Amino acid sequence: MNDKTRYQIMKNRQFLMGYNLSDVGAEQTDQEQNLSPLPPVKKKQGWGTIVLPADFESLNLMTDIRAVFAQRESCRKYSPEPVSLLELSFLLWSAQGIRRTAGRASNPVTFRNVPSAGSRHPLETYLFLNNVEGLDRGIYHYLPEKHQLEVWENRSDYGEELTEALCGQSFAASAPVVFVLSALPYRTEWRYGLKSSKYILLDAGHACENLYLAGTAAGCGCCAVGAYDQDRIDELLGFMPGPSAEKTYECTVYIAAVGKLPQKNSKPD
Ligand SMILES: Cc1cc2nc3c(=O)[nH]c(=O)nc-3n(C[C@H](O)[C@H](O)[C@H](O)COP(=O)(O)O)c2cc1C
Repeated sequence: MNDKTRYQIMKNRQFLMGYNLSDVGAEQTDQEQNLSPLPPVKKKQGWGTIVLPADFESLNLMTDIRAVFAQRESCRKYSPEPVSLLELSFLLWSAQGIRRTAGRASNPVTFRNVPSAGSRHPLETYLFLNNVEGLDRGIYHYLPEKHQLEVWENRSDYGEELTEALCGQSFAASAPVVFVLSALPYRTEWRYGLKSSKYILLDAGHACENLYLAGTAAGCGCCAVGAYDQDRIDELLGFMPGPSAEKTYECTVYIAAVGKLPQKNSKPD
C-alpha cells in the first residue's frame, strides 16, 4: 500500500467515525442558520401513474420472524415466474413506504417503515423492471407519498448498459426487479452537516435489509449489490455527473436485485 492510499484509508476511517463541523471551522448547520430544507420526497416528474395495490393481507406472508431470519440469504437465481404487482408494492412499502407525515408545511417530516437519522429520509427508489406482472419492462420511480410509480425513463433497451453499470453482474441486471436506492444528501446535510454521509449509508442499509426480510416473507429472493460503476448507473438514471455541491445533487448509494425464489425441488447445478 503506498502512502497516498494509506492517507486516503485514514480519511475514510475518519468518515466512519463521523466528522464534527468544528473539524473544518464551521459552527452552524444549515438548519441552525434557518436555511430551507429540501422536501422529503421528489415531486412527480416522469410519465404516467401506476397505482400500487396495498391489500397486503392477501399475500401469503411468513409471520414467524425467526423463520424469516433463518431463511434470509442472498439469492442470485430467480424463478422465471414474474414478481406480482402486489409483491412489488409490498417490497416498496417495506423499504421506503410512508406511514405518516408530521411537521410544518415548510419542513414536513415523513415517518416510514425504516428508520432514518432525524427522520430526514434522504433516499429515493428507482426500479429497472424486467419481469413484473402487468408492467412493461422499463425504468420506474417510486412516489412514496401516494404509493405510486411513475415511468422515469421511457426506454426498455437498457440491458447491456445496466450489466456494465453493475460491473458485469448479469444475474443482477437481468433479475425481475432491480432496486436502485439513490440519496439526495442535502436532505440530511441540512441538519447533520459533515456527519451526514455516514448516516445516509446507514439509512440505505436499513432499507436494503427490509427488502431482504420482506422479500423472504413474501417468497422473493434478494441480493444486495454494492459493486457498481457510480458514473454509469447515475448516467442511466439521468443524474447530473458528480459530485457537486448543488443542494439537489443526487447519486446512487445502493442496489438490490429481487425475483421470485426458485422452486425448492428444482435440480441443483
Ligand atoms: C454492502 C454489501 C454489498 C454487496 N454487494 C454484492 C455484490 O455486488 N454482488 C453480490 O453478488 N453480492 C453482494 N452482496 C451480498 C454478499 O455477498 C452476501 O451478503 C454475503 O456473501 C453473505 O451471504 P448472505 O447474504 O447469504 O448471508 C453485498 C452485500 C452487502 C451487505
